[in-house]
Amino acid sequence: MVISLSTIYDIAKRAGVSPATVSRALNNQNLVKEETRKKIHKIAEEMNYSPNFLARSLVKKQTNTIALIISDITNPFFTTVARGVEDTASQKGFNTIFCNTDENIEKEKQYVNLMLQRRVDGIIIASCGSGNNLGDIRNRNFPLVLVDRAFPGNNDGWDSVVGDSEEGAFLLTKHLIEVHHHQKIAIISGPPVLSTSQDRVRGYLRALRDYNIKENPEWIILGEFKENFGYQLALKFFQNSSNKPTAIFAGNNFIAIGIIRAAREMDIEIPRDLALVTFDDLEMASYTCPFLTVAKQPAYTMGSMATEFLLQRISGEKIREKRIVVLKPEIIIRKSCGCSQ
Ligand code: RIB
Repeated sequence: MVISLSTIYDIAKRAGVSPATVSRALNNQNLVKEETRKKIHKIAEEMNYSPNFLARSLVKKQTNTIALIISDITNPFFTTVARGVEDTASQKGFNTIFCNTDENIEKEKQYVNLMLQRRVDGIIIASCGSGNNLGDIRNRNFPLVLVDRAFPGNNDGWDSVVGDSEEGAFLLTKHLIEVHHHQKIAIISGPPVLSTSQDRVRGYLRALRDYNIKENPEWIILGEFKENFGYQLALKFFQNSSNKPTAIFAGNNFIAIGIIRAAREMDIEIPRDLALVTFDDLEMASYTCPFLTVAKQPAYTMGSMATEFLLQRISGEKIREKRIVVLKPEIIIRKSCGCSQ
């Protein structure tokens, strides 16, 4: 159906009433005779009338639109977060605009500014920075909720819904030590600025300390949550014949895939020659080939809760305390750690 550019003035002219009467009739308000209301609705339908979204937003001072800013829309973790956001927002009559930053802070800044210009009512963000670029939003008291990644100094008053990366990393590393008796464990994780990268290193180190295993700084690598980063680092580890790890904790699913690619090229068999654990399940793959031992974050719930918090802020609900929610990951033991399924 083609939406015409007719206005309420065109409908008023054809119906022989005032624009105010047309507006009341189309918004099913009272004070319009039933016969007149039906006549106006019939003319609007004949003219393919659609309300002017921008004009209506200016009057209501709300666009019923929120933005979700994430760093990698191709990652199943983030697509699941996005699904939780969109389902929850649309149930409450809100539209969602998705922005993909690719872990690029300049792109994030551009998207934040663009969303403010587009007058979205609020933003949910998995930031790829440390929060310094959000000063303007902080000063405006604009509705914003952090998802997946928190900022140092407790988010500056913003609500946040994140996964417990420290606990998940601790449990995965503990499993490698306690069940499979690994002592030479490396970690390859994401950008050092991110709370998820830092917390996964903290959990990994806590497990080493609990079992009196001395950390090897050469085996603690932070960089990118990308497949090629895992691939390059794994090749480096494997080619260092003198002293190489017997197990790797990959900071996320894409890094783990890169490690698997490098192992295949080097004829290294996982888990016989190298044990592997990671964050974020590759659910579809695990249905066909249940292989990766993972810490699976409740990504859908993260997105859904963040949206509930944001919509409460947008509605003007008086919420004094900021909400900081940390959701436990599910540890799924499969074959890549050395367990036989
Ligand atoms: O895959 C991207 C990673 O960054 C996920 O583990 C998520 O926690 C995010 O921080």
